[in-house]
Amino acid sequence: MKFQGSQNYVATQDLMLAVNAAITLKRPLLVKGEPGTGKTMLAEEVAQALDLPLLQWHIKSTTKAQQGLYEYDAVSRLRDSQLADVDGGERVKDIQNYIVKGVLWQAFTADQPVALLIDEIDKADIEFPNDLLREIDRMEFYCYETRELVRAKHRPLVFITSNNEKELPDAFLRRCFFHYIRFPDAETMKQIVDVHFPNLKKELLTAAMKTFYDVRNLPGLKKKPSTSELLDWLKLLVAEDIPLEALQSADTKVSVPPLVGALLKNEQDVTLFEKLVFMNQRNR
Ligand SMILES: Nc1ncnc2c1ncn2[C@@H]1O[C@H](COP(=O)(O)OP(=O)(O)OP(=O)(O)O)[C@@H](O)[C@H]1O
Ligand SMILES: [Mg+2]
Repeated sequence: MKFQGSQNYVATQDLMLAVNAAITLKRPLLVKGEPGTGKTMLAEEVAQALDLPLLQWHIKSTTKAQQGLYEYDAVSRLRDSQLADVDGGERVKDIQNYIVKGVLWQAFTADQPVALLIDEIDKADIEFPNDLLREIDRMEFYCYETRELVRAKHRPLVFITSNNEKELPDAFLRRCFFHYIRFPDAETMKQIVDVHFPNLKKELLTAAMKTFYDVRNLPGLKKKPSTSELLDWLKLLVAEDIPLEALQSADTKVSVPPLVGALLKNEQDVTLFEKLVFMNQRNR
């Protein structure tokens, strides 16, 4: 099993190396990077390229580790027991009927190897990663209600993404292979844009990329625009048929780019950008 990139996803050499290292080590791949740099998409694309079904677990602030294993639905069981007639009362006797399997259980018991995405692990509380240490390491857990040990038939290929909102515990980090997706350089970005807009005019792309990196490199921005924002913006430029001249800063006019709302996401950043444009104009 080796990942070589895919048609829809531009993977740099070091990213491919990281994916294959995680496969070889049989450890989860922990992927960090700015929002919109393709962390979630990586898991989807690797799963597709390696022909593995992908199970996804999207983490929220309220998610508990146990939910990924299983939950015991005591309420349904109580209700069924009161309605005694369901299946002549047979269903209620077997506790198995009330165990709701979580993503990890499904991944462990699947008949074929699968890929498992634990998306945005940093959104959960601090105990969450610690609660999953054994499951991730040994690939097994115990179900107390049915008194069975659930063990992985095939070790799933695990992807874990994080936006760095919280530090992850050392014991957890030890068990992962780590990769930081660096923000794509101009060359890589061109390839990414090409995947999404194969027919984009070259001049428009060059001008838009220049504006994009100018905006991104503004010192003091609160939220730097990322890959997905550039793609949104390009989509708008094409849809609205914005002329090339509106982007190129000819000598006489430097202006705020059209539809800047796709790139800058708060008023301080827009103000900062406008000020800079204003100063540039005065200096001419
Ligand atoms: N390397 C890439 N190749 C192709 N498309 C990419 C790449 N990186 C990002 N994209 C585009 O950017 C979009 C956002 O990617 P994705 O949702 O995977 O980001 P993310 O890192 O998971 O962001 P977040 O942290 O906000 O969840 C994708 O839908 C895709 O269109
Ligand atoms: Mg994501």
